Amino acid sequence: SDGQESFSEYELQLDTRWEFPRDRLVLGQSLGHGAFGQVFKATAYGIRSSETSSVVAVKMLKPGFTDQEMIDLVSEMEVMKVIGTHMNIINLLGCCTQNGPLQVIVEYAPGGNLRDHLRRCRLEPEYLEPLEARDGAPRGSRCSLENLVSYVFQVARGMEYLASRKCVHRDLAARNVLLANDGICKIADFGLARDLLDSGYYHKTTNGRLPVKWMAPEALFDQIYSSMSDVWSFGVLVWEVMSFGGTPYSCLAHAENLFDFLKAGKRLEKPVECPDEIYGLMLACWNESSHARPSFSHLVERLYALLLDMC
Ligand code: ADE
Repeated sequence: SDGQESFSEYELQLDTRWEFPRDRLVLGQSLGHGAFGQVFKATAYGIRSSETSSVVAVKMLKPGFTDQEMIDLVSEMEVMKVIGTHMNIINLLGCCTQNGPLQVIVEYAPGGNLRDHLRRCRLEPEYLEPLEARDGAPRGSRCSLENLVSYVFQVARGMEYLASRKCVHRDLAARNVLLANDGICKIADFGLARDLLDSGYYHKTTNGRLPVKWMAPEALFDQIYSSMSDVWSFGVLVWEVMSFGGTPYSCLAHAENLFDFLKAGKRLEKPVECPDEIYGLMLACWNESSHARPSFSHLVERLYALLLDMC
């Protein structure tokens, strides 16, 4: 095989609603790669009719990909088409499916992931200073309590939308929320086909963290995933945000200890300086009984009321 066959073996259906000419997409630096593929920063000429060029992110398969990985990337793209557009999710912009490797073009989020952003707030004091006044109006500091609650509120909005579209994320965590301009949070990777326990989720991430720590008990023990198990993960994400990118259950290094901890009814502690109302929401998300947890719509309402009280 000369390597070219690796894509020409696959013939994908042309979808004129989304197809973007390959020669108008110029790949740039790598933004990272996971178990599932690789992502590049790129410039797309004329992908949004109002702009001559747009910075975008492009998802591709890694060299030597398997049939299953191709099926999974196609399925992720199809899920994104069906779900539609929302401000708080990473939206599909187009795709290149003909005469070359599959390239899925999505919105680029220049601020990187929410966890790393919050950790930078701890280390770099300038992140805590108010941003310069723009148009004469002072802007809030990037990691003030209002900002933290705004991040969490936006994630709840995005998840409310995904849940309304019958999309279960299965891996909601601050590392999977990206920051666009002006503090806009966007949920990433919601279209991934996942078999979490089969894909090394008992093992550590590159940051040394155990992804099982975001999973609801029924997902962990019985592989039952739903928007209600996403709500549990959302509670862990709120905890991460309120602790500036802290590592949940940091004293529990092994999955087995986490199982015992949760089965004993124990929960993450309130982060320092976290308002009681917000910790109350986290605890509600971690109700053992999935049906007793709040819905994303309820969380959106509560967080909106909290935000209004702060302004
Ligand atoms: N890394 C992975 N996906 C990304 C995106 N859409 N924008 C910025 N960085 C990313």
